[in-house]
Amino acid sequence: MSDEQIVLTGIKPSGEAHLGNYIGAIEPALQMADRPETRPYFFMADYHALTTIKDQERLKHLTYDVAATWMAFGLDPDEVLFYRQSDIPELFELNWVLACFCSKGLMNRAHAYKATVEQNKEAGEDPDKGVDIGLYTYPVLMAADILMFNADLVPVGEDQIQHVEIARDVAGAFNHNYDTDLFTLPEHRVREGSTLPGLDGRKMSASYGNTIPCFADTDTLKDLCFSIETDSSPREAPKDPDDSVVFDIYEQFATDEQADDLAGRLREGIGWGDAKLELFELLDDQLEEPRRRYETLMDDKAQIDALLKDGAERARPKARELMGDIREAIGMDR
Ligand code: TRP
Repeated sequence: MSDEQIVLTGIKPSGEAHLGNYIGAIEPALQMADRPETRPYFFMADYHALTTIKDQERLKHLTYDVAATWMAFGLDPDEVLFYRQSDIPELFELNWVLACFCSKGLMNRAHAYKATVEQNKEAGEDPDKGVDIGLYTYPVLMAADILMFNADLVPVGEDQIQHVEIARDVAGAFNHNYDTDLFTLPEHRVREGSTLPGLDGRKMSASYGNTIPCFADTDTLKDLCFSIETDSSPREAPKDPDDSVVFDIYEQFATDEQADDLAGRLREGIGWGDAKLELFELLDDQLEEPRRRYETLMDDKAQIDALLKDGAERARPKARELMGDIREAIGMDR
């Protein structure tokens, strides 16, 4: 037995990445991938994105965009097995097998589906309005993603914990039924990233429309920094850095010294405009390299395809092998 731990996570290309995604998800996942004794599998969960993105060009674009973003921030496809979910057909065979071990009641309780039902009820609509079976059985495919590669640890945001628990339950049900240990029981790890506030002070989130995209051009970035909501205290009034969105964002990208320095000056009293300008300059500087890498990748989509394909080719033999064992366990080998 090796001491290596398989760390696996799916990245759903359902929107352009913003700085909240970077601080809360990308950066902590990349740090985790970097730990010794870790074998990371990160993949584009494009078939999961299909539950919400039903426009061909948009899905294509987002898959390139999000893959390029992760690589621009340092995901190294030589170190991380990086692939498209849709390039591993075995996942969809496993999906069916797992569906036969997943009780309907468990799906009824899955929160992504439940949230839609609740919204419909509140709006006085049919509870199942807009719910396709893909959304309903979303956690089954996610269990296939996880169990196919015997993941030990699954770094996820809070909202995905339940899905990892479902994968664990289904794995246990299968193992128990066939008296086997083919599936590793995965554990979730909540990513220890920080939450970044958005332009309006609420959590930065695409659904609030308060985001700063990772790779906005310089002018847009500047405008966004200046649009952060601040109070109307006069320029020279002392300001509490701990009660300031501008500082909260600044702190995440600055060195300790830079952060202490700006905090000190805010307490003494500098204008919000000055602080926003400093935030803009810091972000523009910090994001310059990754932005360049992102643009280079996006100008050469064939390279992104080749990298992802190579990842899939390295991952698939493992999937085939496990799928073979599963067929044998269920009585379908011949
Ligand atoms: N559902 C996850 C999300 O929305 C993405 C995902 C798909 C995933 N398959 C996975 C995460 C497997 C971890 C493991 O963020």
